Amino acid sequence: MAKITKVTSDQILDSRGIPTLKATVFLDDNSIGTASAPSGTSVGLKEAKELRDGDHSQYNGMGVLKAIENVKTVINDSLLNKDSLNQEVVDNTMIRLDGTNDKSKLGANAIVAVSLANAVASAASLNVPLYKHLNRLFRNYLPTQDIKMPRPMLNLINGGKHAKGGLDFQEFMIVAHGFPAFVDSYRAGMDVFTILKNVLLDKNIKIEYGAEGGYAIDLTRNRDAIENLREAINKSKYNYGGQVGISLDIAANTFYRDGTYSVRDINKLLTPLEMSEFLSNLTEEFKLISLEDPLYEEDWEGWRNIISRTKSKTKIISDDFSTTNVSRLKKIINAKAANGVIIKTNQVGTLTEAFKFVALAKENNFTTIVSHRSGETLDTFISDLAVSFGADYLKSGAPNQPERIAKYQRLIQIENELKEHGTA
Ligand code: PGA
Ligand code: ZN
Repeated sequence: MAKITKVTSDQILDSRGIPTLKATVFLDDNSIGTASAPSGTSVGLKEAKELRDGDHSQYNGMGVLKAIENVKTVINDSLLNKDSLNQEVVDNTMIRLDGTNDKSKLGANAIVAVSLANAVASAASLNVPLYKHLNRLFRNYLPTQDIKMPRPMLNLINGGKHAKGGLDFQEFMIVAHGFPAFVDSYRAGMDVFTILKNVLLDKNIKIEYGAEGGYAIDLTRNRDAIENLREAINKSKYNYGGQVGISLDIAANTFYRDGTYSVRDINKLLTPLEMSEFLSNLTEEFKLISLEDPLYEEDWEGWRNIISRTKSKTKIISDDFSTTNVSRLKKIINAKAANGVIIKTNQVGTLTEAFKFVALAKENNFTTIVSHRSGETLDTFISDLAVSFGADYLKSGAPNQPERIAKYQRLIQIENELKEHGTA
């Protein structure tokens, strides 16, 4: 038992220069835990809702002072004297207090920061690394789960809402999956990132940077970006496909309108079936490892179609489509509409709900990918989270900005710790 004595919060800025909140949980044995809420730019319709001030005299209305006030008052009052080690009770208390389906009353940003900070405080109280504490919590939902290092997915070319005026597809990632250790995969990713810059500059392609640290470039087709990425991998010392492959986050919500998709590669609007045919051809040609949000989040026909075309060779990953939400995932499983999921705790609001979602995904043999958001802080909770339930991948952007690098560095630190103790 470790009683919560105080919960508080401060406003900080995220990597986009937009306010977010950092929460701190204090325990009666003097342990302290802090965590901050990340924030998305391309947000799924079914995500839990952030609370923003809407006061345009400050930060364009994006301040989070009301959410902070909620932490300091009602959330603090309801959690006083609760046992921090019982994460489920802590999370359920906040869910009940909020009372809405989408956490819009107190703010999902307020709730998630406190939920994660509570887990950090518990780990401090137990004097165990965070990933170990999270593994113990996760075993309440999947008792056989061991800790395991994920592999990195590095977003080297940014498009969609993450790069103004850039490509339609949101993320052109490389997956360094053919290495025994995380640190080697990360180094390979960094090598390809450097080579890619020269590949682009040699063709006089103007480079800017997107929200997740990758190159933001303007090309005639989305396909050309994949081609450049493949060229960079082929120019590296790594083997294309075997050691380093390509994954895409299409984030199709952003260019879907009234039943059709508009992509610069093809000079007409595409129906769901044409869109899934276009994508499955790319998948075949580039031997893509995974395809995230290939279709609009309510285009069930399109999702079922692409999965039947790609069989199980390329994983079809659901992000905005599932929003870390158990009831959405049940529907997706029944419809056989995806075979992999993104996990973002702030899409649902609490660690407990995220763990239930992961357990369901794993029971159904889904690929699991823990993800950062485009609006990030230096918080590295997601690295420990990925290790705690043996996620297949962690995606945290390009190895280029401190808030992205921090997550990868934390994984290297965990890997070293596990090696020392003979568990990796
Ligand atoms: P977001 O993008 O954080 O802007 O939602 C990340 C993603 O779609 O994977
Ligand atoms: Zn996504």
